[in-house]
Amino acid sequence: MPVFLLKSILSILLLVLTFISMFTMFEIFGRTEKKYNIEKLKKIHKVNGIVYLFLFIFISYFCIDFIINTKAELSARATFHSIFVLTIIVLFGLKLSFIRMYRQYYVKVQTIGLLIAVITFLMVGMSGGYYLLITRFGAEKFPERIERLKATEEKIKIVVRTDSASIKKGEELYNSKCYFCHDAYSTKVIVGPEHKGILRNPFLPVSKEPATPENIANQIRHPYRDMPSFAYLADEQVQDVIAFLNTL
Ligand code: HEC
Repeated sequence: MPVFLLKSILSILLLVLTFISMFTMFEIFGRTEKKYNIEKLKKIHKVNGIVYLFLFIFISYFCIDFIINTKAELSARATFHSIFVLTIIVLFGLKLSFIRMYRQYYVKVQTIGLLIAVITFLMVGMSGGYYLLITRFGAEKFPERIERLKATEEKIKIVVRTDSASIKKGEELYNSKCYFCHDAYSTKVIVGPEHKGILRNPFLPVSKEPATPENIANQIRHPYRDMPSFAYLADEQVQDVIAFLNTL
C-alpha cells in the first residue's frame, strides 16, 4: 500500500476521533438535562484525546520523513496543510496547560476544543481528503512529480552553440541567475560547485553523471539535489547558458 494511501486512511480515522471528541464534549457541556453518564463521557473524551495525539504524531512522522528525504519545496496545498498542523500542536498544548495548570483559563478550553475540531477537518480535507479524491480512493495512482530524467535516455540532444551572440546572452543569464551560487572562473565552491571547465571534465561535479550538455540542461530543469529548479527557462535560454558554460 502506498504510504500516502495509508496516511490518508489514518487521517480519516483522525476525523472519526474528532467527531467522538465533539460529541462527548457537547453532551458534557451542551445540555441542561444530561442524557448520559457524565463521568463516563469524560473518560471517553480523555482516552479519545490520547489516541488522537498518538495518531497525530504517527502520521506527522511520515510527513516529516517525506519532507526530509525529498527536500521538497512545499506546494501551496502542503503549506496550508503544515500551517494547520502547527496550529493544532499549539492549540493542543494550550488546552492541556489550561486543564492541568492554569485553571483560571479553564473557560477557554471548550473554545480551543472546537477550534481543534474545525482545523482538524481542514487539515485532513486538504491532504488525505484531496489524495483520496484524486486517486478515486486509492484505485488510481497519484500523479508523480516531474522526475529527474534518468541517465542519458529521453533527453533531447543538444548541439552546443558557439556563436558569440548566444554566448553573450548565456553570460548575461548566468550573471543574473547562477552566479550567486556558482563561480564561473575559479575552483571556489560557493553554494554549488564551481563551473570552470565544466564541459571539459568527464563528469559533472556532484551527480558524477557524464558532463554532457544534455545532463546540464537536465540539472537546470530538474536539479540533482539542493539547487533550485529553473524549469521556467525557455529551451533557447538553456541553450545559451550552455553555450556560455562551454567557454569556461
Ligand atoms: C541557490 C543556489 C544555486 C543557484 C542559483 C544555481 N545553482 Fe547550480 N547548483 C547548486 C547546488 C547546491 C548544486 C549541487 C548539486 C545539486 O544540489 O543539485 C548545484 C549544481 C550544479 C551543477 C552540477 C550538477 C551535477 O550534476 O553535478 C550544474 C551544472 C549547475 N549547478 C548549473 C547551474 C546553472 C546553469 C545555474 C543558473 C541557471 C545554477 N546552477 C544556479 C546551487 C545553485
